[in-house]
Amino acid sequence: MSSSAIPQTDGKPTAGRMAAVKEMAAFQRILFEVEREFVRTATTLIYRVGDIELKYLLCQHVWESAGHARFLKERGREMSGFGKGDSVREAFRELFEEAVVCEDPDKAVAEFYRVIKPAILAAYKEYIQLTHHLADWPSKNLVEDFIHEEMRHAEEMEPYLKGVESTESESALKAAVAALGGFLGQDPKIPLPGSFTWQHRVRGFKHPETCNRGKYPVCSSVFSEDPGETPIVRQWLEDPKTDARVIRLMVYVWLMMELDAVDYLATLFHDTPDAPFDLHYDLARHLWDESRHSAFGFRQLPKLGVDLNTLEHSLDLYNILVQMTPPERYAMMTMEFEAGSFPTKAKVMDRVRELNDFEADTLLAFDRNDEQNHVRYGHRWLPEIMKLFGEERPVEEFVDATRERFEVMAKEFGGKVSHSLSADQRLTGNKILKIAGVTQ
Ligand SMILES: [Fe+2]
Ligand SMILES: [Fe+2]
Repeated sequence: MSSSAIPQTDGKPTAGRMAAVKEMAAFQRILFEVEREFVRTATTLIYRVGDIELKYLLCQHVWESAGHARFLKERGREMSGFGKGDSVREAFRELFEEAVVCEDPDKAVAEFYRVIKPAILAAYKEYIQLTHHLADWPSKNLVEDFIHEEMRHAEEMEPYLKGVESTESESALKAAVAALGGFLGQDPKIPLPGSFTWQHRVRGFKHPETCNRGKYPVCSSVFSEDPGETPIVRQWLEDPKTDARVIRLMVYVWLMMELDAVDYLATLFHDTPDAPFDLHYDLARHLWDESRHSAFGFRQLPKLGVDLNTLEHSLDLYNILVQMTPPERYAMMTMEFEAGSFPTKAKVMDRVRELNDFEADTLLAFDRNDEQNHVRYGHRWLPEIMKLFGEERPVEEFVDATRERFEVMAKEFGGKVSHSLSADQRLTGNKILKIAGVTQ
């Protein structure tokens, strides 16, 4: 007698008893997978788009989407049938990869926000329709919140989509969603035409060699010891004789340039498709924190008299780190740059406090607090990322080796970006003295 022929104890299939829960849990599983794929793939837009405010907005949306995935996972686990693990079904992977391979960054944003996001919103609305409002009240509350956020995301992105023409690849992506019948399979499935080709199978995605800063001038680094060369003059940061107003301007430049952390950190999601979701969740938080730190500078500098069009963006860190492996990138970020920044930042904070600038003190305090968390994330997740790439050395040994390799890579890939602006035009240490009203 085969096992399938063994009668159920009560004569009924056991699946039937919990069918109502299992069905909704299966839908929640789909929504979880879709949101985590959004986080994994929409992050590839961040370093490709040149508009700074758009980068910030994408970081915020990614963080909020990671929140949706997290709550879905937590609620899903309370329900029978959500399933174990964080894996994503192949059909979804394929769809999101297709959105990633669009080469034009603005058109890629349009594909995500004209096709993928509306499909996510439609799936949430469908969930509300399908579920029982009293029995599944906990999920209903969550999904209603997500619907509001999705609608806000659409509104916030609208200005950036104006004038971006729809392309054939956008239509192809729409067809791919229609072939699934929507994420929950709620619509009639329209088979893909015989001529349909998955573009990501033809050409995979690779991070660009450099990140996009749109209309802004660029350079290799904003740090040096030469006040005629760069806006941040290393020895001035720690020199007690430096006027505090100069320190404040330099630290805002420093914060704004955390945009390089935004751009290279964003590369890690797509590189780690099999990471546990909790890792991507913390990376999404890290990413959003860095984008806010960058915005601290981006918003405050003009108020203090800096013309942002004269401030060159440093590209070295992205350019070097994108040549290194994902665990190396993450190790340099958390174990070297972040862990190593605290002593100088502490001195800088004390100096800025002399100015009684409450806002500056607040921004710097929150920056410090966030950075402490980032180093904690590093300790938690670096071993996991190393594992994903078969890296078996002890963490400390790996970090030391990575530091050495970074030096080598910096020689090869760093220092290659020449100044967009002449020393006269660009913001330098000397110009900062003038803007601060300091005479030397
Ligand atoms: Fe930061
Ligand atoms: Fe950080």
